[in-house]
Amino acid sequence: MLAGLGASFAGAAYASAETKAGGEQLAPASGPSRLRPVGQKPVHDLVTEPRARVRAGFIGLSRGLSLLTDCLNIDFTDIVAVCDLRTDRAEAAAVLCEKKRGKRPAIYSGTEAIWEQMVDRGDLDVVYVATPWQWHVPMSLRTMERGKHAFLEVAAAITVDDCWKLVDASERTQRHCVMLENCCYSENALFVLNMVRQGVFGELTHAECAYIHDLRSMLFSLGTEGDWRRDYHWQLNGNLYPTHGLGPVAQYMGVGRGDQFKFLVSMSSPEIGLTKYRDVHQPNGGKHRDEKYLCGDMNTSIIKTELGRTIMLQHDVVSPRPYSRINALSGTGGTFFDYPARLAVNDPKLHGLEATGSHEWLNAKDLALMRSKFTHPLWSKLSEQARGGGHGGMDFVMNWRHLDCLRQGLTPDSVVYDAAAWSCLIELSAHSVAAGSMPVAIPDFTRGLWKTLSPLAIVG
Ligand SMILES: NC(=O)c1ccc[n+]([C@@H]2O[C@H](COP(=O)([O-])OP(=O)(O)OC[C@H]3O[C@@H](n4cnc5c(N)ncnc54)[C@H](O)[C@@H]3O)[C@@H](O)[C@H]2O)c1
Repeated sequence: MLAGLGASFAGAAYASAETKAGGEQLAPASGPSRLRPVGQKPVHDLVTEPRARVRAGFIGLSRGLSLLTDCLNIDFTDIVAVCDLRTDRAEAAAVLCEKKRGKRPAIYSGTEAIWEQMVDRGDLDVVYVATPWQWHVPMSLRTMERGKHAFLEVAAAITVDDCWKLVDASERTQRHCVMLENCCYSENALFVLNMVRQGVFGELTHAECAYIHDLRSMLFSLGTEGDWRRDYHWQLNGNLYPTHGLGPVAQYMGVGRGDQFKFLVSMSSPEIGLTKYRDVHQPNGGKHRDEKYLCGDMNTSIIKTELGRTIMLQHDVVSPRPYSRINALSGTGGTFFDYPARLAVNDPKLHGLEATGSHEWLNAKDLALMRSKFTHPLWSKLSEQARGGGHGGMDFVMNWRHLDCLRQGLTPDSVVYDAAAWSCLIELSAHSVAAGSMPVAIPDFTRGLWKTLSPLAIVG
C-alpha cells in the first residue's frame, strides 16, 4: 500500500461543510466536502500582480526538459533556475538555456532535498514540478508556502487527503496551483470546447474519455518514468492516470463551474497483461519476476455529475492497442468522438453542411467546414508557434496560456479545485473497485462554489 494511502482509505468518511467556521457561513456542500479552515479564501477568481516577465524554475528535467524547451520559446519567460537529482540532466538543461538565451540558470542537483533551496530563492514567480508522483505534493506545498505559484505535472496527487492539502495551501497562500493538463489544449479538445460554448452540442448529457496507451515496454525501462510508475501497478487497482481523459471533458461540462462530479462506480478487468509481458520478455534479466501486479488491465469508471450527466472514464496501459483518450461528448445537438475525429450534428442545415441527418458522421468536407468555423481562437493564434512543440503543439499552447495568465495577473483556466477533482479519481476508483463497484462519493473541493460559477470563457 502506498505511504499515506492506507490511512485515508480507512478514514473515507468525508465531513459535510454545511456548518460554520470562524463565524463565517460556508456555502452548503453538494457532495462530501471539508470545512474551509479559518483564514483561507477561495481561489477560483484569484488575480495576482501583473508582471512584464515571468521568472520560472524547474524541478525534474526529463518531462520537465520538454516543458522548459517550450518556455524558452515564450519570449516573456525567463528560466532562472533548474533542479534535478541527476546532475547531468540539470547541466543539460542549463546548457540548453545558455544556447537559446545566452544566460545560464542556477543549477541545483545531487541530493533529494536540494530542490528546497531552489524553491526558497527570492527571484522566482513560478516553479514547475515535473518529478515522480510521490514528490508532487511536498514540492508544490513548499512552493506555495514560499510565495510562488506551482505548476505541477499530472496527476497532482494520488490520495484524496493530498488533494485537500493542495487546495488548502492554495487558499491559504493565495498562490495558484495549476496542474499541467496539456490534453485540455489539444487542437481537438479546444475545438470541442469552442463548439460546446457556442451551443453546437445543445444540452450536454454524456462524455467518454480514457488513457489508453500501451506502456508495457516503458514500464520495464530502467531509469525512465516506467521504473517508478510500475510500482503503482502492484499497489492500486483502479484508474492510475485519470486526468488526461477527464480534464478536457470536465472543462466541456463546466465541472467545478456550474456542474460538479457527484459519485462514481468503478470496476477493473483481471490483471493479466503486465504479468504476461514480464514473464514472456523477462526484462532486465528477469529481476522483476517476483512482482505481483494488482491493477486490472482495463479499469472502467462511470461518474455521475450533479446535473445528472454521465462520464465513462477508462485506463489501460498494458494491452496491445493504439493510443486513445476517446475524447467523446454527446448532447442534444450533436456528438463528437476522437481517434479519429468524428462529428455528427442534429441539424446540419443550420451549419450550412451537406449532411442530411445525424445518423452518419460528417464527411471530410463538412468536418473541415465545422473546423473553419469553430477552431478555438487560442489554437488559431498559437498553432504556428506551437509547431514542433511537445505532443503535437498542445504543450506549447498550455505553457503559453498558463504563463500568459501569470504575466497578466489573470486566473488560469484551471485552478487547484480542478487539479484536485481530476486527480482524486485515482484513490476513489480504487475504493469502488475494492468495494465490489459500490458508488463512492466524490469530494466537492470547491466547497459549494461550483453552484454559482460560470463555465470558462472562450479566450483567444
Ligand atoms: N503531461 C504529459 O504529457 C506528461 C508526459 C510525461 C510525464 N508526465 C508527468 O511528468 C512527471 C515526471 O515524469 P517523467 O517522465 O519526467 O519521469 P522521469 O522519471 O523520467 O523523470 C523524473 C525526473 O525527476 C528527477 N527527480 C526525482 N526525484 C527528484 C528530487 N527529489 N529532486 C529533484 N529531481 C528529482 C529524476 O532524476 C528525473 O530526472 C510525472 O508526474 C509524469 O506523470 C506528464
